[in-house]
Amino acid sequence: MAIHPRITGGRRQGPLPLPLKRALLAAITVAAAISILCFLSFTDTVSFTDTLSFLGFPPRDVDKREGNRRYLYWGSRVDCPGKHCGSCAGLGHQESSLRCALEEALFLDRILVMPSKMCLSSVHNTKGTLHTSNATSEQRWETGSCAMESLYDLDLMSRTVPVILDNPRSWYEIISRSTKLGEAGVVDVQGVSRVELKENPNYSSALLINRTASPLAWFMECKDRTKRSSVMLPYTFLPTMATKKLRDAANKMKEILGDYDAIHVRRGDLLKNRKDRFGVERSLHPHLDRDTRPEFIKKRIARWIKPGRTIFIASNERTPSFFSPLSDRYKLAYSSNFSSILDPIIQNNYQLFMVERLIMQGAKTFVKTMKEFDNDLALCDDPKKNTKDWQEPVYTDD
Ligand SMILES: *[C@@H]1O[C@H](CO)[C@@H](O)[C@H](O)[C@H]1NC(C)=O
Ligand SMILES: *[C@@H]1O[C@H](CO)[C@@H](O)[C@H](O)[C@H]1NC(C)=O
Ligand SMILES: *[C@@H]1O[C@H](CO)[C@@H](O)[C@H](O)[C@H]1NC(C)=O
Ligand SMILES: *[C@@H]1O[C@H](CO)[C@@H](O)[C@H](O)[C@H]1NC(C)=O
Repeated sequence: MAIHPRITGGRRQGPLPLPLKRALLAAITVAAAISILCFLSFTDTVSFTDTLSFLGFPPRDVDKREGNRRYLYWGSRVDCPGKHCGSCAGLGHQESSLRCALEEALFLDRILVMPSKMCLSSVHNTKGTLHTSNATSEQRWETGSCAMESLYDLDLMSRTVPVILDNPRSWYEIISRSTKLGEAGVVDVQGVSRVELKENPNYSSALLINRTASPLAWFMECKDRTKRSSVMLPYTFLPTMATKKLRDAANKMKEILGDYDAIHVRRGDLLKNRKDRFGVERSLHPHLDRDTRPEFIKKRIARWIKPGRTIFIASNERTPSFFSPLSDRYKLAYSSNFSSILDPIIQNNYQLFMVERLIMQGAKTFVKTMKEFDNDLALCDDPKKNTKDWQEPVYTDD
């Protein structure tokens, strides 16, 4: 959506344009008021502050600047090069990108105008819930995209970084303020550093900075970590910003699970093998297939998780009963054990994964698929970030 920054705010208006402009503004105001009223009447489950934040008025404790609010816009999609965003990455990658934009908003002390929708990766979204291989559940996974508010609690997020969605209501507020400001309304920038945006008055005085972020992936803007601003959001920030519905579901499940441990077993998407020119299978993670099989998991986790414990397994493995061999030593639980809680609220795999993440976060002992940080427990010792070194998969004991 393009907004028009150059609507003049000059004082020498003739007798005709002024009433015309007033009439127009009045009409727009009435239309906006009506849509706000409609919106309010349809959202009795949403609190009033949620509504205010959604409409572009963050809760009072955030907005200390009142009429002085300024905005940052990175684009209408997170990491979706091209029109159809068919090639978007999984939730984790898109969150890295969104976090990068949120950090810039924090750094610039601006409100982030966020994309209203999150692209659902088809690769990640064809995997259904573990152990529910029904076609009906398959059909439930929407393709394309989902509303940002179906994943995140924007009100909660706004307590740390004020955000609004790039919907017509937000743009209406920005346009009407930019009308008053005239030239200082909107500035389009590309490839300008964060520090420059903050320090150069040509940018810092603009109501809206329209930054064209890296078209490949927003997180490229945060890649150069040595030059990063001191403001950083932890990796756990976005996972904990899940909507109340998702958080409530996770809490219910955690209560039922009681004292539990968790393992995250990524198989499908990471088990990409290919054949070299001699027809030999090669993998970027040569031990991953082996290490994520139940017999090897059992051996590996024995030193961390005592027999008899309840283990919550989050996995994209869809072979029914794949992990059953673990059940002679542990009580196993999956999302599919909680379908009465999840089915009414889960519309896509990203929402499911967000609930699973909260459960994994609450586990006493948590074992990841591959190590990311020094203190992580992991099933597999292969380096996670390997994009070049294709090796023959290993299935025997080392
Ligand atoms: C932001 O800038 C891009 C190009 O630089 C332009 O295509 C787009 O319409 C602008 N968006 C807004 C909201 O001004
Ligand atoms: C699978 O589908 C059948 C019939 O369509 C239904 O009765 C059954 O409850 C479904 N199972 C699950 C796990 O959704
Ligand atoms: C701001 O913009 C004006 C006009 O384009 C230019 O002359 C001036 O050098 C700029 N100021 C800075 C600090 O870049
Ligand atoms: C979860 O469901 C599986 C079957 O899919 C069952 O074997 C297991 O006992 C269930 N776990 C719990 C904690 O109910």
